[in-house]
Amino acid sequence: EKVTVSVIKADVGGFPGHSEVHPDLLEACEGVLEDAVDEVIIDYYVTRCGDDIDLIMTHTRGEDDEKVHELAWNAFQEATKVAEDLKLYGAGQDLLSDAFSGNVRGLGPGAAEMELVERPSEPIIVFCCDKTEPSAFNLPLFRIFADPNNTAGLVLDPSMHDGFEFEVHDVIDQKKVILKCPEEMYDLLALIGQTQRYAIKRVYKKGDGDEAERIAAVTSTERLNLIAGEYVGKDDPVAIVRCQSGFPAVGEVLEPFTFPHLVAGWMRGSHNGPLMPVSEEEAHPTRFDGPPRIIALGFQLRNGELVGPQDLFADPAFDRAREIANEVADYIRRHGPFQPHLLSEEELEYTTLPDVLKKLEDRFEDLEE
Ligand code: F6R
Ligand code: MG
Ligand code: MG
Repeated sequence: EKVTVSVIKADVGGFPGHSEVHPDLLEACEGVLEDAVDEVIIDYYVTRCGDDIDLIMTHTRGEDDEKVHELAWNAFQEATKVAEDLKLYGAGQDLLSDAFSGNVRGLGPGAAEMELVERPSEPIIVFCCDKTEPSAFNLPLFRIFADPNNTAGLVLDPSMHDGFEFEVHDVIDQKKVILKCPEEMYDLLALIGQTQRYAIKRVYKKGDGDEAERIAAVTSTERLNLIAGEYVGKDDPVAIVRCQSGFPAVGEVLEPFTFPHLVAGWMRGSHNGPLMPVSEEEAHPTRFDGPPRIIALGFQLRNGELVGPQDLFADPAFDRAREIANEVADYIRRHGPFQPHLLSEEELEYTTLPDVLKKLEDRFEDLEE
């Protein structure tokens, strides 16, 4: 039997500022999802990372299902009402349309959905981020599925030894390409190292089985700032990764996050900063509205039910990663308004540069050669 895991997320108001989701909003979402159990969904878990609400839902309706998307939309609408009532910051900010029209894509919320054939035992990990962008997953997904220094299974497990396929999206020109690893690894890296344009959308195990058997990972790749045409917040992404028996072990999936790599999206969506792995409890970015955060929730599926979660970064083994992230934060913050702490001009969420240039128009002089 095929089961679909849908993680749909939106920021519909922060508390205070852009730092966290008020518990009443989570409750409002839970109320809406609870009423849909057995009707539309099998099971659900509502969480948040920073100011983003993450709805983790299971069902048998497949990806991009109208009913499931409408349910998520309704949950975010209810949460928005509470946010408005509490006068929370940026109430309803990611709901870019007044009316639902069949699918949340293009309307503001982000989605990562995976239809899978549930194995006799099906461990999955759901990652949720704040103050960063979808391509923040490029480096860790590469390490998990293509780097033998990270994933021992690529060398040791006969069923992983052939490698994986990466579906890469060009989020600016809206194109996609599939690259195989290890044989096309350098081509893959040439693309996904350019994090402002390319994001890994899906990873599949190689082979000719059904996609629902081979699917290994999926991320949300919506670019809210491109959808809206103006600044409405970063596209704080989510991802789902399958683990064990033919897929990377839970510990191999978590291992890349011991290195808090630099990602775009800190303060005003306009700065680079280290991605700090934290527990659900600690997922409230505050220093300079950050640094960027990621949580990891482990579940076992049981006929589509979510057994869990286990809060996987709530482990002393990630204390050092948090320490390093704080050191890197101290270091990079000292750059103030300079690159590479500041993003490049095209990547800034907003800038005064055009105004400044206009004001100085008459004062610019040609350089003498
Ligand atoms: C939002 C974010 C924040 C805001 C900043 C300014 O996720 O990254 O850093 O950009 O708090 O917010 P405004 O412009 O709403 O005052
Ligand atoms: Mg916000
Ligand atoms: Mg956010």
